[in-house]
Order: sequence, then structure tokens, then C-alpha cells
Amino acid sequence: MTGVDVTLDVMNDDQRAALKTKLRGGIAEREIPFARPDSLTRVYAVASGKGGVGKSSVTVNLAAALAQQGLKVGVVDADIYGFSVPRMLGVTTPPTQVDDMIMPPVVSDVKVISVGMFVPDNQPVVWRGPMLHRALQQFLADVYWGDLDVLLLDLPPGTGDVAISVAQLIPGAEILVVTTPQQAAAEVAERAGTIATQTRQRVAGVIENMSWLEQPDGSRLELFGSGGGRRVAESLSRVVGAEVPLLGQIPLDVRVREAGDVGEPVVLSAPESPAAVALSGIARGLGQRARGLAGRKLGLTPTGR
Ligand SMILES: Nc1ncnc2c1ncn2[C@@H]1O[C@H](COP(=O)(O)OP(=O)(O)OP(=O)(O)O)[C@@H](O)[C@H]1O
Ligand SMILES: [Mg+2]
Repeated sequence: MTGVDVTLDVMNDDQRAALKTKLRGGIAEREIPFARPDSLTRVYAVASGKGGVGKSSVTVNLAAALAQQGLKVGVVDADIYGFSVPRMLGVTTPPTQVDDMIMPPVVSDVKVISVGMFVPDNQPVVWRGPMLHRALQQFLADVYWGDLDVLLLDLPPGTGDVAISVAQLIPGAEILVVTTPQQAAAEVAERAGTIATQTRQRVAGVIENMSWLEQPDGSRLELFGSGGGRRVAESLSRVVGAEVPLLGQIPLDVRVREAGDVGEPVVLSAPESPAAVALSGIARGLGQRARGLAGRKLGLTPTGR
């Protein structure tokens, strides 16, 4: 023998699926609808570097506001350890199982799923990394979401496994970075956003929460300093080489916390409060971007020659 010809090629989607099924012992995995190239659902992963900056509050309020604006909305509580979305949205009914699909509960016209709905009595859950990925995959693939305009994912704080899983499971997911005005929080938020460039995800924008506390005389007390949101937006714009907008600033308001505690988002319980107005404004901006058809195939084929 004098030579060997080797032809290298990439697997197509069908071949890849066949290999996965084979590796999994013949059990085909359900597809994640949002990962399909022709999916029209906009997926936003709400992330932050630091904990307690208001990711979950922002997620549930954006969801409720978007639903109120007439969009079909789903929320995945991807904070497997510190799940708080069911309480904040006031979910009282568990998911139901229909054959092998999970029907998510619906509150305020928002479909919600959370690990909190699968553990009895709020017991803490001990998960290993691979189980986290699997849980998230099931939430995305086995839950019947129907035809959504927007899916919001509430991520745990930090830049850990879950953020990477989201990037792998839904490559088209965009990141919403939440920060407070504080310098330290802004620095960590920048890092969280920068991870997105490594996972090749788009940063849809920055949301500054707890921006100020309005005083009885109308003046603003900047409890956590100022400028964090703008700084993160500018710095991320430089890193990703594209404009990352500051989508809005949400003031501190006792009603945000109270509304979360009783399970009725402030955009519904006190829609005229400045925090609710800010949140609804951000939702409106995101809603207008929903269902972009640019660059997408409509699947039209000619009927004749
Ligand atoms: N704008 C606001 N005004 C007043 N309280 C707020 C505001 N935003 C959030 N909070 C309160 O701050 C606390 C933390 O908010 P939240 O749980 O949404 O943060 P998080 O980033 O999701 O936290 P974690 O990192 O633990 O998941 C909650 O008690 C919430 O009610
Ligand atoms: Mg949270």
C-alpha cells in the first residue's frame, strides 16, 4: 500500500442525533424547542455576578409585565439551590404530568417551572454538577411550553455551571446583566457579562437595580452610590465590540420587596410606583424586540415551477 486517502467531514444534525441516541443506549432525547434554529422565542437569561442584586425580582416582574403586554411568556427558575421564583410569582399549584410531558403551572398568564415545585416542603436540594445540567435540560425539553414569545431564565448568582449549561442548551439565549450602582457589584457584573463572550452569547443589555431611594421631599438618596449600570454597559460594549445598552434603572422601593413576599409582582400590585414603571418600561423595550424574523427562514417552498 502506498497511500491512504482520508476525507474529513462534519456530521449533519441527523447523524449527530443518531450518535447521541446510540451513546445514550437507544433512548432518544427530547429536543429543546428553543434551541432550534427556526425558534421564534426570544430567550433571556437573567444573570449577575453578585447575589442579592435583584435578579429574581427583575425576572418575575419582567415576565408579568410582558404577559400583561400581551406576549406569551415562560419563566424557568434555573436557580436550583436558591429557588425563589414560585414564591415571588405566587405559584400555588404544582405542575401536572400528562404522559411524559410536564404541564407548568400558570400564574398571571406566565408559565413557570422551578425545582422548588419538585422538592417537598422547601427542603434543601443537594445537586452535583451533572445533575444541574440534566435538571435544566428537562425543564427546557420535557416541560410543555407551547408557543412562547419570550422565555426568561432566572440564573443563580455568579458565573458557574448553570450559565455554561444555558449556553450549551440554548446557544441563542441572550444575557440580561443585573447590577446595583455599587462599584464592587459593577466589577463582578462585568465579569459575568464577559463570560458571555466566551460562550458566544449576546448580551442584550444591563439593568441597574436599587438605583436610588426616593425621599419624601422627592430627592433621590443614592444608597449604593451611582454609575454602576452605566459603567457595566460601557465596559461590556468595549469587550463585546457592540453596543450593550443600559436598559433601565429601577429605584429601591419597599413595595418591590413586599410584592415579592406576597407573590404578586409589583408591576401588577402597584403599577404606578416608580419601580414598577421602570420595570414595565424595560419589559416594553424587550417586548418590542420579541420575535424578530430578521435572518430567519420562514420555511416557504415554491409550490410549482
Ligand atoms: N428595587 C428594589 N427595591 C426594594 N427591594 C428590592 C428591590 N429589588 C430587589 N429587592 C429585594 O432584595 C432582595 C433580593 O432580591 P432578589 O431575591 O430578587 O435578588 P437575587 O439577585 O435574585 O438574589 P439571589 O442572588 O439570592 O438569587 C429581595 O428581598 C427583594 O425583595
Ligand atoms: Mg434569585
